Amino acid sequence: MSESDSEDGVGTITAVDGSHAKVLAALHATSFPPEECWSANVIALQLGAPGAFGLADSRGGMILCRSTGDEGEVLTLAVDPMRRREGIGTDLMNAAMTHAAGSGVARMFLEVSVENTTAIGLYRRMGFETVGGRRRYYADGTDALVMRADLHPG
Ligand SMILES: CC(C)(COP(=O)(O)OP(=O)(O)OC[C@H]1O[C@@H](n2cnc3c(N)ncnc32)[C@H](O)[C@@H]1OP(=O)(O)O)[C@@H](O)C(=O)NCCC(=O)NCCS
Repeated sequence: MSESDSEDGVGTITAVDGSHAKVLAALHATSFPPEECWSANVIALQLGAPGAFGLADSRGGMILCRSTGDEGEVLTLAVDPMRRREGIGTDLMNAAMTHAAGSGVARMFLEVSVENTTAIGLYRRMGFETVGGRRRYYADGTDALVMRADLHPG
């Protein structure tokens, strides 16, 4: 992993790129059903796209995002099932939103399953509000909420 971007005394959050795709894919596979998890190739492609960035937490977590102009999007967030409810997801979201705000992003969007109450709760605490929905967005036919947060430079 590359140079440390931030440290909270427990985990270290670092920037990741396509060279970490295999490790990230293995972590992603622990957190999503087979039809929703991303291969190393998909992750490398995502991270290679213009405006994309990824962060990993040394305790076992990852977030991938993309920004275009002043809009950003959380592409995926995953925490090792053995390390959940320790604040890793919150730390990764905070780091990603800080990084995005520093790159000029004013609004961040994401999609989340209507059934994923843990993630919805986390996103609400981070300032995200529901602004729309997508019917049958996921492979199993589940609907998604579209959520948005306004970011504040600095
Ligand atoms: C959603 C996800 C990323 C959250 O990761 P996490 O590291 O567990 O998140 P946090 O620890 O920051 O917060 C989760 C919960 O733990 C609680 N928590 C945080 N630190 C805690 C601590 N020290 N002790 C007890 N609880 C704690 C939070 O308050 C929160 O509570 P809630 O479940 O009642 O809302 C994780 O569950 C995951 O990977 N899920 C599968 C993939 C997924 O759904 N990704 C999102 C798709 S959009």
